[in-house]
Amino acid sequence: MNILLIGAGGREHTLAWKLTQSSQCEKLFIAPGNAGTARLGTNLEIDITNFEKLADACIQEDIKLVFVGPEEPLVKGIVDYFNKNEKTKHIHIIGPTARSAALEGSKSFAKDFMKKHNIPTAAYQEFTADNFKEGVDYIQQHSLPVVLKADGLAAGKGVMICQSYLEAQAEFDLMILRSKFGEAGKRVVIEDFLSGIEMSVFVLTDGISYVMLPEAKDYKRIGEGDTGLNTGGMGAVSPLPFFDAILEKKVIEKIIEPTIKGLQQDNMDYKGFLFIGLMIKENEPFVIEYNCRLGDPETEVVIPRLTNDLVNMLLLTAQSRVNEIEIEIDARSAVAIVAVSGGYPAEYKKGKSIQGLDISLDECMLFHAGTEVKDDEIVSNSGRVFVSVAFGSDIKDASELADYQMQQVYFEDMKYRRDIGYEFIKENIFPK
Ligand code: AMP
Ligand code: GLY
Repeated sequence: MNILLIGAGGREHTLAWKLTQSSQCEKLFIAPGNAGTARLGTNLEIDITNFEKLADACIQEDIKLVFVGPEEPLVKGIVDYFNKNEKTKHIHIIGPTARSAALEGSKSFAKDFMKKHNIPTAAYQEFTADNFKEGVDYIQQHSLPVVLKADGLAAGKGVMICQSYLEAQAEFDLMILRSKFGEAGKRVVIEDFLSGIEMSVFVLTDGISYVMLPEAKDYKRIGEGDTGLNTGGMGAVSPLPFFDAILEKKVIEKIIEPTIKGLQQDNMDYKGFLFIGLMIKENEPFVIEYNCRLGDPETEVVIPRLTNDLVNMLLLTAQSRVNEIEIEIDARSAVAIVAVSGGYPAEYKKGKSIQGLDISLDECMLFHAGTEVKDDEIVSNSGRVFVSVAFGSDIKDASELADYQMQQVYFEDMKYRRDIGYEFIKENIFPK
């Protein structure tokens, strides 16, 4: 069958690589894709929120399955659009409806959902211009640090961890009174700071049954040793050595099962991946956030470890037959390291020619993120440019190989972290 994949990053190149391994995938289309996906299928230059054009392309190319990578089209209702439209309702589309995608699109909705279904999360209150004064008082009596979250999508920048009352007060003012994040910040969730180890779990669900994918951890800070500004993700590892059977059982019983039951009780249609960001505090899991999609760069380590036929899994999901899926996981460790443009996440240059992308090493994969073809050359066109992924018998092995592969590829001012997975490597292989 013909398949359309929506998105353009490292996550989408990884998914394209996996989808095209299935004998059920005839032609793959990617909208808009990158230079990496162009080698696996046909890139379509369509905006990811232009539902009408995406639907037209599906009719024209006889597409039977649509997979939505990023959150924006999901939060804006692409699944509802396809399911309601006469011309597209026969097409299987993977992802939650807008109402269910609000688990990511509205922090306040997600917190209410967790509270209602007794899912462990940080204690919180929400405020708008209407109860602004109460918010000010709430901040003043809160312990430090205090966490402020813009309610809506804010391109990953809407969370402030404030170390002082002055800072918290200033951020609160900026969001509510001065529209720092536009509409997204007109409602603010103020919550307790949770300390511990962060990790992510992923489930594929049809809203009734679910299967769990391998767990992962991403590295958000630009600098080695988790220092500097937050980014879209500098690397990821899977599996996590501390995620043992006891912790897994707690995550399933206290978080995943109540979440899936909550979807049913609240009549929330959900056919797709759900990403649950967790904080493990004294061996107890708490939900930091829900995302209504797979993560990036977590996908680059989770999907290579999945040995099932992905097309088959998606079709079973669309048919509400997730209970028939048996997940098969490669026992090896995987490490992903992201190469970024110098200056990122602040200002950086685009259009740099990239050499060495055709490298082919055993147990390695190289996924494009922000790349495009210009004058027969592959050049950078974003902050995160490509991802070096390697397997290994443990995180140390995988990390060394991913680093070796990274050294074979080059563009001017390329930067990457050499310490991804450092907490899981006993003798630090890259001493500073
Ligand atoms: P989010 O945009 O919800 O992914 O949050 C961004 C990051 O902020 C998370 O990955 C955490 O590292 C951190 N964070 C969010 N909420 C909390 C919290 N309640 N306590 C501690 N850290 C948090
Ligand atoms: N890696 C975090 C995210 O995809 O949101």
